[in-house]
Amino acid sequence: MKQLTILGNWKANKTVAEAREWISAFLELSPTIPPYVSVVLCPSFIHLSLFLEVSLPISLGLQDVSAYPSGAYTGEVSSTMVSGSASYVLIGHSERRTNLHETDAVVIEKVHRCQDSHIRPVVCVSALDQVNALATFIPSFGETGMILYEPPSAIGSGKPALPEEVNEMAKSIKERMSGISVLYGGSVTPENVLPFYQSDLIDGIGVGGASLSVDSFFGLIQKASSL
Ligand code: PGA
Repeated sequence: MKQLTILGNWKANKTVAEAREWISAFLELSPTIPPYVSVVLCPSFIHLSLFLEVSLPISLGLQDVSAYPSGAYTGEVSSTMVSGSASYVLIGHSERRTNLHETDAVVIEKVHRCQDSHIRPVVCVSALDQVNALATFIPSFGETGMILYEPPSAIGSGKPALPEEVNEMAKSIKERMSGISVLYGGSVTPENVLPFYQSDLIDGIGVGGASLSVDSFFGLIQKASSL
C-alpha cells in the first residue's frame, strides 16, 4: 500500500470555539486512521496552540510563513517562531499568488526560510512555469518538499480537475524534480476522491472546504482505508 498524504487547509475559517469543537470530534475518530495515511492539517495561526495542547495522530501545518527571518517585521510570523510547532508550511497558494501578488521569487524565499528551520514546504502550483522556477532555483527541492497541484478553476468550484489531466501534470512535475511527492487539490470530496487515491502518480490530496467538517474530512480518510 502506498503512503498517502491527506492535507487539510482551513483557510480563513473557524473561531477558536469552533476549532475546539472540531478537535474534540476528530479526537474520537482518530485511532482509526490507517498507518499508510499521513494526515496534515493547516489551521490558522490563531488555532495553533489548541492543537499543541492535545495529542492527535496528525502533523500540523501552517498556511503561510514569512519570507523574512525573525526580527523587525511587524505582523509577520517567521519560520523560526513556528519551528518545533509546525512540521509543514503551505507556500504560494493560488489565493495568495492572486490576491496578495505573491511571486515565484517570494515563494522561493519562503522555501529557503522553511529549509533553514527544518519545516517541510508544500508549494502550491497551478502551472509548469511555477515548477520550473522552483526546480531552477532550488534543485534539491524534491528531497524535502512537496508539490500541491491545484488548478484555480477547480478550487472551491465543486468541479475537480479530471484525474487524467492531474496524472499528466504529476508526471511532468516528477520528470522535473527527482524524489518529489505530488498532491492534488481542488474540490476534492469523499465522493470524488477515489481516482486520485488510485493513481500511481499522485501521492495524496489537498482539501479546503472538505476539511472544515470532521464528517467530510474523516470521510476522506475512510475512503483511503477502503483501498
Ligand atoms: P477546495 O480548496 O478543496 O475548497 O477546493 C482546495 C485548496 O484551495 O486547497
